[in-house]
Amino acid sequence: MSLIEKAAEKMKKAESLVEKAARKAAEAAEKAETSPQPSADQAAAEAPSTPPVKQPPVQKQSEPQSEPAAIPQVEQRSRSYGRTSRYVEINFDELRAQNVPVMETDETVISEEFRIVKRSLLLNAFAKGRSAIKNGNIIMVTSTQPDEGKTFCAISLAMSMAMERDLTVLLIDADVEKPDVMKRLGVKADKGLIDVIEDKNLDLSDCLLKTNIPNLTLLPAGKKHRLTTELLASERMGDIVDEVAKRYPDRVIIIDSPPVLASSSASVLALSVGQVLYVVEADKTREIDLKEALSMIGSSEHINLLLNKSRFSGGKKKFGSYYGYGHQ
Ligand SMILES: Nc1ncnc2c1ncn2[C@@H]1O[C@H](COP(=O)(O)OP(=O)(O)O)[C@@H](O)[C@H]1O
Ligand SMILES: [Mg+2]
Repeated sequence: MSLIEKAAEKMKKAESLVEKAARKAAEAAEKAETSPQPSADQAAAEAPSTPPVKQPPVQKQSEPQSEPAAIPQVEQRSRSYGRTSRYVEINFDELRAQNVPVMETDETVISEEFRIVKRSLLLNAFAKGRSAIKNGNIIMVTSTQPDEGKTFCAISLAMSMAMERDLTVLLIDADVEKPDVMKRLGVKADKGLIDVIEDKNLDLSDCLLKTNIPNLTLLPAGKKHRLTTELLASERMGDIVDEVAKRYPDRVIIIDSPPVLASSSASVLALSVGQVLYVVEADKTREIDLKEALSMIGSSEHINLLLNKSRFSGGKKKFGSYYGYGHQ
């Protein structure tokens, strides 16, 4: 309990019966009034920036499994605050079906491996003093080509980090040509990153989505634009990353990015982020392509290689998972 909460608690105890009655009457009068709701934007802007209390996503057993249509989507009333907020519910069943770690207690090989992968990224993210990394809390997930597992790894990392007690995570879908994050999470979204880049009057917080995981917020890719790639490679994108870094220094920002050899925007993005998680698909990513791609994002000093879809699982194979990791 914080000092302020303690003080409030004491004040409550000290409250006399008369004061209580007066307060109740005032509260009743206030309820009767139809006070204007704060805008969705305001509420979204309040997406958690303070360390949240750990609440692992609990799957409601009683709910029938075959009801994805019932997923509540944006513009819902926040249950805790009674105001309107941009809120979406991540579909845990869908994620599990894709082999993504969902709960702290999940004991799949994937969960174990992402626990290890996130450790070194977090150490870098919040390193202090001489080891501090500029924008170290901003992690770009990329790879050489499409389909190597960027979105899978970005979501798995975000889920794994969001299970940490004192960590707040913002997952940004910046692969605007193939924006898969919201689809994979079972979430519908409208505006997002591209809209913020395109429209200077639109604030980043206008597009943030709170989720049923209290410390996970999403920024969708937004609507397709004829100059999508150019927009993403624009100066404004760099400004947005800097703004995110300034606004949320205590938060880990994971950016699901375009593949390096397919879009120039990945190398531009690499200029602004502190760390890169580079996905290499086992038996597929060609060494020559990898070398070329790494030279293109060479500006980033902190590149972690992650070997994905490896059939080797260190003798701990469980549930037929085929994920492996590697660091450099
Ligand atoms: N380690 C993994 N375990 C299970 N499925 C994976 C893994 N990595 C990727 N996939 C699957 O492979 C497909 C391509 O991955 P995706 O993350 O969409 O690639 P990218 O974002 O690089 O285009 C998706 O269906 C994804 O669910
Ligand atoms: Mg993807």
